[in-house]
Amino acid sequence: MALLKILEVPNPLLKKKCEPVAEVTDEVRKLMDDMLETMYDAPGVGLAAPQVGILQRIVVIDVTRDNEPKHPYKMVNPVITAHSEETLMHDEGCLSVPEQYAPVERFETVTAEYTDENGQKQTLSADGLLAICIQHELEHLEGTLFIDHLSKVKRDMIVRRVEKERRWKNSHTEEE
Ligand code: NI
Repeated sequence: MALLKILEVPNPLLKKKCEPVAEVTDEVRKLMDDMLETMYDAPGVGLAAPQVGILQRIVVIDVTRDNEPKHPYKMVNPVITAHSEETLMHDEGCLSVPEQYAPVERFETVTAEYTDENGQKQTLSADGLLAICIQHELEHLEGTLFIDHLSKVKRDMIVRRVEKERRWKNSHTEEE
């Protein structure tokens, strides 16, 4: 397995719509394993393929806590097929928008259909953090980030902060 480089805003690849995966091959399985390793290392609870520069409809999710057994989901071509009427506001972050958080409105429960790593169709009904994470990750496949739910002023401010932080980190690594 290998750690992948996570793209950050304002990388234009994060704004692209992703292509469906034709077949779950060994290459796709390796990508999902690498994405999970990268996500656990970050650490984060979800990662979509465009965040590592691959414009395919693939996401990995694991919302378990450190002291719980891992429960990863590897999803190929996922779609939300049903959702609750009820919504909630939840503070979200994203590995492509590091260390920035803002409340986003999401459906309380969702049902998702996807193909798993064995090429089997799966249906998953979720609530809580898992439901929020599914909605967040699936939006990545459309080129939509959580900050796209915010006002332009707020979004621009967050992107500027991320760029400033990145410049600061880069200049300090060079000195070492
Ligand atoms: Ni994200």
